[in-house]
Amino acid sequence: MKMVLLATLAGVAAGGTALAQQALGEAQPPRGPEQIYDTTCGYCHGRNVGPILLGRNLPADTIKHITRHGQNGMPTFRPTEISPAELDALATWVSTAEARTGEHGQ
Ligand code: HEC
Repeated sequence: MKMVLLATLAGVAAGGTALAQQALGEAQPPRGPEQIYDTTCGYCHGRNVGPILLGRNLPADTIKHITRHGQNGMPTFRPTEISPAELDALATWVSTAEARTGEHGQ
């Protein structure tokens, strides 16, 4: 059974997807701000759970502070979850992004 699993994993690694090739502990390349917003922040913001962020020109420092420290229902995000460089880019992007018509909330 174990051999079959190892053989399967070896096959996946040989297949060459980016995920399969990642070594344990190896850093991932930084994700773009819009990708982080869409996959993480946009889970709540713009979907009636968190307030609308885009198009409000919120100060980047405020966005960074709240992302690291949380606020009421807003969770905290550690540097292992969103790296300092990713957060810098995310805060600038959120601060300057246009409002999205498809988003809802207050
Ligand atoms: C699990 C849901 C959730 C996720 C995910 C989330 N937030 Fe929030 N966020 C909230 C809620 C709820 C509030 C309102 C907090 C309050 O009532 O003070 C909030 C508030 C904020 C505020 C303050 C907005 C204002 O009008 O004052 C900022 C800035 C913010 N979030 C940024 C982010 C960023 C950036 C991300 C992604 C890294 C993110 N949030 C991910 C739920 C979330």
